[in-house]
Amino acid sequence: PKTLSITDLRAMKQTGEKITSLTAYDASFSALLDLTGIEVILVGDSLGMVVQGHNSTLPVAIRDMVYHCRCVTSARKRAFVVADMPFASYAAPQQAMSNAARLMQAGGAQMVKLEGAKIDVIEFLVDQGIPVCGHLGLLPQSVNRIGGYKVQGREPAQAQQILKDALAIERAGAGLLVLECVPAMLAAEITQNLTIPVIGIGAGPACDGQVLVLYDMLNITVGNHPRFSKNFMAEADSIEDAVKRYHRAVKNGQFPATEHTY
Ligand code: KIV
Ligand code: NA
Repeated sequence: PKTLSITDLRAMKQTGEKITSLTAYDASFSALLDLTGIEVILVGDSLGMVVQGHNSTLPVAIRDMVYHCRCVTSARKRAFVVADMPFASYAAPQQAMSNAARLMQAGGAQMVKLEGAKIDVIEFLVDQGIPVCGHLGLLPQSVNRIGGYKVQGREPAQAQQILKDALAIERAGAGLLVLECVPAMLAAEITQNLTIPVIGIGAGPACDGQVLVLYDMLNITVGNHPRFSKNFMAEADSIEDAVKRYHRAVKNGQFPATEHTY
């Protein structure tokens, strides 16, 4: 099958078909997600926690992202692959450019994702031909500044700032936006106000698509599970079946439900 493009994802927003996304870090899961019809595979820097065993995403290096991205892109045929820019790899436009180029040239990524409203960096990358996915709401790379993994945008002033940042990220040329851990009402408003697809995680059902950390939804992760995730293995008889159930639940609007939403 032909590899999906950003044009295909935009068309899905237009027609209202939900975009399904999960993280993957290796060839086996990449191939499985691809065959199940997952449209977007995110090589997330969450691999620092679920693969490398760190307690945050901060220690992840660009070489780690390139390696896992290559593992994922070598095994998928159809899915659109987005790779995270790790912590401290995009402080300035030129630095961001050389690191994004590694993810695309050596890693085979179709788009890079970076956290926050780094408008100058996004504009520069887009200008150099690098497709960019924004990421707003909870920013795990800023966990030490925030003081924990908690819902963002509950206060009206902060909600307005996130909406403003989302519009600025679209204006800067980003092609996708991930919204993490924000109230469903705010995510709905942002999704309506942007022409680019919005993929939510803990952001309610109104987003154009949904993403989860694969190991969370497969219930592999030990310890506390985020409220917004769901154990899709609970009623499944295989990993493939769990991914199929997630795909179906996102497509028909059954996931996320109220209990997964802020
Ligand atoms: O690193 C990651 O897995 C992510 C998603 C949770 C959006 O950024
Ligand atoms: Na990430």
